[in-house]
Amino acid sequence: MIRKAVLPVAGWGTRFLPATKAMPKEMFPIIDKPVIQFIVEELLEAGVENIIFVTGRHKRPIEHHFDINTDLEKHLEEVGKKEVLENIREISHMINPIYLRQKEQLGLGHAVLTAEPAVGNEPFLVSLGDIILEKGKEVIEGMMEAHYRFGKSVIALHEVDEREVNKYGIARVKEIEEGVYIVEDLVEKPSPEEAPSNLAIVGRYVFTPRIFDKLKETKPDKGGEIQLTDAMRLLLEEEVIYAYRVDGRVYDTGNPVDYLKTVFEFALRREDVREELLTYIQEILSKQTQLIDKP
Ligand code: G1P
Repeated sequence: MIRKAVLPVAGWGTRFLPATKAMPKEMFPIIDKPVIQFIVEELLEAGVENIIFVTGRHKRPIEHHFDINTDLEKHLEEVGKKEVLENIREISHMINPIYLRQKEQLGLGHAVLTAEPAVGNEPFLVSLGDIILEKGKEVIEGMMEAHYRFGKSVIALHEVDEREVNKYGIARVKEIEEGVYIVEDLVEKPSPEEAPSNLAIVGRYVFTPRIFDKLKETKPDKGGEIQLTDAMRLLLEEEVIYAYRVDGRVYDTGNPVDYLKTVFEFALRREDVREELLTYIQEILSKQTQLIDKP
């Protein structure tokens, strides 16, 4: 049984500086819900309740978010904001998390290794805090089911534009049945010329505990970071790794442009925001055209 999920949230968020100097990128809002809450809800919907955050000293707001805030609850009660109060209470009781400190930011692989004492010798999930999946519950369930069938690690893959392969870990695979693959090779952030395909790792992994041994053997990359993808390459030498195709939209929130696209798409799905936003966009677009049309 897979009972535990590791959420590495200790990264600096350098792609978003200076916004991330004092604010975790995982707390950035998609309208009014922080990204990390989407990730946690996806796990809960798929039945995974043991959430292990690998955090850092600048990430306290994540802990506060899933904690009880009695002052705020009292205030909302006094002003009669019942619906918001209910929502706030629900978030406070959503999970009973474990927080582990990654004392030095030595890479994603190192962050996952930090969770070993809390995971122990059992298979576990890893969910990255900057990718939201439209069909998250189905993906996690599908990956767990593949793990139960094959008894091995399973990673989530999604087709990306060929110009974007350098943002992701990329896999070379062999399809064994509809939407399920055997991984043949992996490469972290290749150039479009080096990329073995356009199938990107999209932040969801099921690992056998053997990955911890491989993480201990993994050498730092050029930038001094222990990469999870490099540890998976070592794991490939002794265990089969399976891959699961992610259907549905994949929302990357890990860089400013993709984050804005994500916010925009979610906003267009919200009835209370949609109309006003569309009118505004049409207005600014027509102003832009006027500006461009002027000689
Ligand atoms: C990490 C992984 C990469 C993966 C990506 C998105 O990169 O190293 O393999 O494709 O997440 O899930 P990062 O975005 O942290 O640089």
